[in-house]
This record gives sequence, structure tokens and C-alpha cells, in this order.
Amino acid sequence: MAEARDPFWGVVASFGVDQMFVLPEWVQKKAEEEGKQAASPEGILGKMAVLKKELEGCMKCQLGSTRKNIVFGEGNPEAGILVVGEGPGATEDETGRPFVGRSGKLLDKIFASIDLDREKLFIANIVKCRPPNNRTPSAAESEICSKFLERQIDIMKPGIIVALGASAARTLLNTRTGIGLLRGEFHRYLNTPVLVTYHPAALLRSPALKRPVWEDMKRLKSFMEEAGLPRESGEKK
Ligand code: URA
Repeated sequence: MAEARDPFWGVVASFGVDQMFVLPEWVQKKAEEEGKQAASPEGILGKMAVLKKELEGCMKCQLGSTRKNIVFGEGNPEAGILVVGEGPGATEDETGRPFVGRSGKLLDKIFASIDLDREKLFIANIVKCRPPNNRTPSAAESEICSKFLERQIDIMKPGIIVALGASAARTLLNTRTGIGLLRGEFHRYLNTPVLVTYHPAALLRSPALKRPVWEDMKRLKSFMEEAGLPRESGEKK
């Protein structure tokens, strides 16, 4: 029985989501923090858990054969702020968590400058498996895997998407235009506003990009204030 295997099972069961699988850690933590409030399988957390489960063992492209862990994404999917990177690097592949290497540490600092942390946003990538040697994901890999991102977006219905770097911008906006031209204004993915900025890895290579990224963060902050983001958990969209 799951109860014997998983110390969190009692929390998970009381959380009210399909008991055929173990919910991700953030769902369990949230349930505990919120006094094991019941959550519907039709809610954002439940749907994300189902999608995560569906992704398990994915071999839809060749990245499946070299990855160690699928990096589904993490954070607060109810907060209405979605950050999209390119794909997992070595540390992310080892841990199954997005943006936990050098770029991730810088990203945390960048967001902290506008009072954002991982409890107030959700971070995911265009591809969920590490491309060997950190190469750019191919068009085919991005096309196949972005179907999962599309579903994450459909579930979360974010109020804003922040695209980090060229791969994210290219896939979400279906454009070849460079970041330098895309940044500075809002674009759209379906009906969702998209703010494009440089990937933190680019900042590590070129510190001169810090200023434009800071300008983008100020723009993001103003947008969030106007749009009432981050959303409170459980708030209706
Ligand atoms: N770079 C990305 O684009 N995504 C990660 O998760 C880590 C590094």
C-alpha cells in the first residue's frame, strides 16, 4: 500500500486528489501549510499533478534516452506568474528541479530584487529533459515538448509569462527575432501577456546585460502591481 511506502500519504490522501499516484513535494507542502485543505482533482494543483504523472518515463523525443530526471517545473502554479527557460542543465538533470545551478542562483537574486520568490511564481522550461552537453534543443524537440508546456499554461492560466532567452521567446512567440528587439514591450502567447528578457546564463557571460534585465524587472513589477499578481492561492481567475 502507498501508506507504507510514503510518509506523506496521509497528507496526500486528505488533499483529496486521485490516490493512484504520489503528489509532488510542493503539493504536499502546501497541503500541510494550509492545514490539509481539500483540493479538487479539477483544481490547478490536481491537474498539474496529473500532468506530471503523465510525463513520467516520456520517450517522445531522443532527449528521453540521455536524461537522468525529467524536470517538470516547480513553484506555485496558482500564483499566475509563469517563468519559462530553455531546458535543464546538468544540476537540474541531477535533481529534477528547474534553475538550481549557477543560472538559477542568479535568477533567484534577480527576482528577489522585485520581491519575487519561488512561492510566488512557477518555473518551467521549453524542454523538460536535458539536451546532451547543454546544446540548444532542436526545433523538433522544442515542438514535441512544448505541448506539455502548452498544457501547463492551459492549467495555470497565468496572468503573465516571462520568457527567459531566445529558445523560450522563439517557441512561445513563434518568432526568430532576437531578444534585443523583443524586450521592452509586451507580446502575447494566445491571450497571455509575455515579457521577454535575457536568460540568466547570458548575464553570467555578459554582465553588461544586467541593466536591460533590471529595466525588464521594473516593467514586470509595474505590470504585476496593475494586474494584481501574484494571485492568492485558490483565488478565482
Ligand atoms: N537553464 C534553463 O533554461 N533552465 C533550467 O532549468 C536551468 C538552466
